[in-house]
Amino acid sequence: MGYLRCATEAAQVSRTAYRRKRQLLIRTAPLECGCSSASNFPTMALLNILHYPDKRLHKIAKPVATVDDRIRKLVADMAETMYAAPGVGLAATQVDVHERVIVIDVSETHDELRAFINPEIVWSSDERKLAEEGCLSVPGIYDSVERAEKVRVRALNERGETFELDCDGLLAVCIQHEMDHLMGRVFVEYLSPLKQTRIKTKMKKLAHAM
Ligand code: NI
Repeated sequence: MGYLRCATEAAQVSRTAYRRKRQLLIRTAPLECGCSSASNFPTMALLNILHYPDKRLHKIAKPVATVDDRIRKLVADMAETMYAAPGVGLAATQVDVHERVIVIDVSETHDELRAFINPEIVWSSDERKLAEEGCLSVPGIYDSVERAEKVRVRALNERGETFELDCDGLLAVCIQHEMDHLMGRVFVEYLSPLKQTRIKTKMKKLAHAM
C-alpha cells in the first residue's frame, strides 16, 4: 500500500529508526544453529515491485512452512523496499514471492514495523467504511474501497510466535489490502470495469515510458 505523504526528513528518520529496529529483530531472532550470528546475517536488499497488470500479482500465496532466516531476510528486505518506496504496507506477492508474508508500518514516525506471517482475519466488524487507497503496484492511482471498519488478525511474527492484533483505522484498511494481495487480488479490482480498463491503459503507457 502506498501513500505519498512522507517528507524527505521523515523518510530519513524512518530509515534510522528502521535500522535500529532491524538490528533488534536480528538480535532477538532465534538462532537456527550454533554457528549462526548477527554478523553473518545477509545484508538488506531492495526488491523489485511488480506493477499492475502483471499476471504474477494474481498468484495465490502459499503458507510459510517454517519461520527461519530465509523468511526473516525476506521480511527485512520487504521492509527496506516498503520504506524506500515509500509505502505503508507491502505483501510478498508484490515482490514476486508467493508466500504469506506482509510488512506494515502505518506510524507517522515510521518506527512501528510489523511483520504478519500466515495472517488470518479471525473477526471483522459488521460496520464497513469507505477509505481512499493507493498501492505500490499501481503507482499514482488512488480510489475509494469499502472494507470492514475493524478486524482482528492472527499471525506469526518474525520469531515464529503467534499473536493477535485488533486493527482499526488505517491499519485495518492496510491489513485487508495486503491480505488481498496474498490472494492475488489488487485493490483496483474493486473498482468499475471502466475504471479498471483506464488504469490498465495508464499503467501500460507508464511501463513503456520507463
Ligand atoms: Ni497494494
